[in-house]
Amino acid sequence: MRKARLVLDKDYVIAPIDKRIYGSFVEHLGRCVYTGIYEPGHPRADAQGFRQDVLDLVRRLDVPIVRYPGGNFVSGFRWEDSIGPAADRPKRLDLAWKTTEPNAVGLHEFADWAKKAGSDVMYAINLGTRGPAQAQNVVEYANHRGGSYWSDLRAKNGSPDPFNIKLWCLGNEMDGPWQMGSKTAYEYGRIANEAAKMMKWTDDSIEVVACGSSAFTMPTFGEWEYTMLSECYDNVDYVSLHRYYGNPHNDTPDFLASTMDLDAFIRTVASICDAVKGKKHSKKQVNLSLDEWNVWYHSNQQDQELHKREPWGTALPLLEDVYNFEDALLVGLMLITILKNADRVKVACMAQLVNVIAPIMTRPGGGAWAQTIFYPLQQASRYGRGKSLLPQMTSEKADTKHYTDVPFVDAAATLAEDGSVTIFAVNRDLQEAAELACDLRAFGTFREATHSVLHHDDVKAVNTEDAPDNVRPIDVKLDWKDGRVILPAASWNVIRLVK
Ligand code: AHR
Repeated sequence: MRKARLVLDKDYVIAPIDKRIYGSFVEHLGRCVYTGIYEPGHPRADAQGFRQDVLDLVRRLDVPIVRYPGGNFVSGFRWEDSIGPAADRPKRLDLAWKTTEPNAVGLHEFADWAKKAGSDVMYAINLGTRGPAQAQNVVEYANHRGGSYWSDLRAKNGSPDPFNIKLWCLGNEMDGPWQMGSKTAYEYGRIANEAAKMMKWTDDSIEVVACGSSAFTMPTFGEWEYTMLSECYDNVDYVSLHRYYGNPHNDTPDFLASTMDLDAFIRTVASICDAVKGKKHSKKQVNLSLDEWNVWYHSNQQDQELHKREPWGTALPLLEDVYNFEDALLVGLMLITILKNADRVKVACMAQLVNVIAPIMTRPGGGAWAQTIFYPLQQASRYGRGKSLLPQMTSEKADTKHYTDVPFVDAAATLAEDGSVTIFAVNRDLQEAAELACDLRAFGTFREATHSVLHHDDVKAVNTEDAPDNVRPIDVKLDWKDGRVILPAASWNVIRLVK
């Protein structure tokens, strides 16, 4: 049995948790929108064509904010194509994903869908092929009360009330050569600054996210953040981080250690923000938006073949990773890492929401089901609200191929307003259970203690439409008296101590 110890105190707080860390992402990519959230004619579609079976699953995830409409897609997108009568909207080639965008779902429809889902919209503007003027126009269209060209057009198009979109992305992955209109850090910093200024002059209640590096591994990483922030620091609120992991060589211990990299990535970007703050003698703190994160690798080969066979289609099954149990463990570890960095990470969006590297899958004309990775996100979103507590952890450790001193047990803890504590813990050891000794003396007694475990004997086990519950959490008996909890080998655990 592995040994680990966790000490918590209600006065040792990392930060209040911004609920937007449980955000998600809907891109006009593959089947995320078309046959994902939207499928007119489906037996469960509502009058607007939105699948209610998908909405039910989204509501179970309790997603506070959804990034939209891309992604790589946004860097060639003309937002005006997505408004007005749907029948008059142009079909456009999307160069990012080599598909054809019908624009059947646009800004108004997505705002309606988000309302139905109980989510806010985080809207990305195009700073690839377009610039500050078009960015200003869409803010005026979405948020101005009326009495101007763009806001009156919104009313004419059926929405007299503004959409009130509060969070905006200044483009997407602008450092990446694969991006339409990619830029140097200086070029991007300048255009982001001018766009942010004009957007905020139009609506001073909005916040904006500047593009950080598209990955920790980019050759320009670090220099990109420093240079672009030097140009736009005063006018931006967050820097974006994107991070995906995979297990292509089937080395599960190394894969599960990837969150050591995520933690270093987050801390490094926060340090660079602070370095620019120092250089500028600024009092303002720029925080982080981890607005794309997940496991992504299962579908790579399949996508290459599909693109060769069928370029320029609509609703092609792209990026359809089928997630297994070990992916759910990594997602749990990523959520733990996000919670432990709650002082800097204020927004995080699992990429994406439906079909495209997603917790929810659908079959056109058929069912909708939860993939393995749905469950850690659902439980964290449901119970991980309030304050993030500083977890004083000790755990036995081991080395993996790329990481040293990887703790077998990793954990985060949250304190809800009513005094209840939730501990999220993963045992990375694939063979041995771990005993987690929890020291929570300062909290007094709890009315109820529960323990939910996500485990499967086969780390490659998946959920399918026919077997949707193959991998799902189950409640196990917990005798809390001495604070000792057994975490099964290879498990995601949610321990709830209710006041
Ligand atoms: O989420 C899939 C893609 O990954 C996004 O479009 C892009 O921003 C990232 O490279």
